[in-house]
Amino acid sequence: MELRLINEGELADYSKALTRGFGRHFDSEIFEAYRATIASSRALAAFDDGQTVGTVLSYPLQMYVPGGMLPTTLLDSVTVQPTHRRQGILTRMVDWLMNDFHDRGEILSCLGASESVIYGRFGYGPASLQVDFTLERPYANFSHFPEVNGRLRFVEKPEARELFPLITERACSERPGYLRGSDKLWDVYIADPEPSRDGAGALFMVVYEDDGKPDGYVTYRIRETTVIVHELMPVTRQAHAALWRFCFGVDLMPTTYAPKRPVDEPLPWMLADPRRLRQSVRDDLWLRLVDVREALGRRTYAAEGRLVIEVVDSFCPWNEGRYQLDGGPAGADCKPTTSEPDLLLSAADLAAGYLGAISFTNLCIAGRAEERKQGSLELADAMFRPSQAPWWPNEF
Ligand SMILES: CC(C)(COP(=O)(O)OP(=O)(O)OC[C@H]1O[C@@H](n2cnc3c(N)ncnc32)[C@H](O)[C@@H]1OP(=O)(O)O)[C@@H](O)C(=O)NCCC(=O)NCCS
Repeated sequence: MELRLINEGELADYSKALTRGFGRHFDSEIFEAYRATIASSRALAAFDDGQTVGTVLSYPLQMYVPGGMLPTTLLDSVTVQPTHRRQGILTRMVDWLMNDFHDRGEILSCLGASESVIYGRFGYGPASLQVDFTLERPYANFSHFPEVNGRLRFVEKPEARELFPLITERACSERPGYLRGSDKLWDVYIADPEPSRDGAGALFMVVYEDDGKPDGYVTYRIRETTVIVHELMPVTRQAHAALWRFCFGVDLMPTTYAPKRPVDEPLPWMLADPRRLRQSVRDDLWLRLVDVREALGRRTYAAEGRLVIEVVDSFCPWNEGRYQLDGGPAGADCKPTTSEPDLLLSAADLAAGYLGAISFTNLCIAGRAEERKQGSLELADAMFRPSQAPWWPNEF
């Protein structure tokens, strides 16, 4: 088995394996739509006797964590050929990648998991949650709604490509989990090739402007009689209200389905009958602290405190050990120590608590963390508490 990054000439073969890995047939037209995006990534392949049997794309991006942006690699298109599954190929590829990321100084890695059983063993933990909303139109009445003076208009792809990254940046500048996307990922999102649509129609794109200033946008698809809200990205309270009212008001569409919203989305508290808004919550972004010391030391914390954390990490042994973290709103210092630990947990569980999606108290009750010094869970929860719920706003 050979593992290596591929070159541009191998891209078509690679894409054939990748599409087959997800149970689809290769289509050269569709490949052309994704070619530039795939080419902009680092594409790792596993070869068996010259045949591509494993694929993982890595995109070096930046993630917002409290205090600033950290170098983060997004994994995508993770596949092993159906002929080669459960022989340890994914394990070998992730091991190769972790060493590569560590050598490159990339501090975090993240991904969206097709199944929640796959990535915990590699030290990834569920670091943000998403809520999926469904609302029937007769119940879309607001009891609370701000005065809205702006207007909505449809935009075509070139204008959306220009405006949407800027709006996202303003909307999410302090949202833990926000990934500053690469140009190529934005290109393919706006191009909206057929496989991205999952059987629904192409994207409609609408911008909200107040006094000529673009303060929000929504992208949505139609499937039969349902509006599927893909991204709803408001910068202001007025944009938020106007965009939701628009989604619920599309004629001939009795149902609105809005997946992948943040868990602190205020919509339920604007509705007259919030119980009619069906909600389902699940894990969204999976996070890996590739370099625990840097990840803990290069962010801020909501409260001042000192914690000694012992991290168990057999997959990335350079992380294994005890860290003394001194952190607060102004910054942090994190260094190895031999002191007795206050908290003991795995790298995956530390990642699950890192952005504040899951409290350390809950991780402990679930049997995933151990409190060695009384009061440490309370302190950890106070330090890691986010000002906004962690959210992975875009599809990339
Ligand atoms: C998910 C996938 C990449 C796993 O590849 P693989 O080479 O079979 O994985 P490995 O052999 O390295 O598995 C390592 C361990 O994870 C377990 N595992 C891997 N995928 C699993 C799955 N989907 N469900 C349950 N367990 C899984 C294996 O059983 C193995 O456990 P063990 O160490 O106790 O034996 C492969 O099944 C696949 O391509 N699936 C379809 C596409 C997909 O869902 N990709 C993930 C996108 S996020």
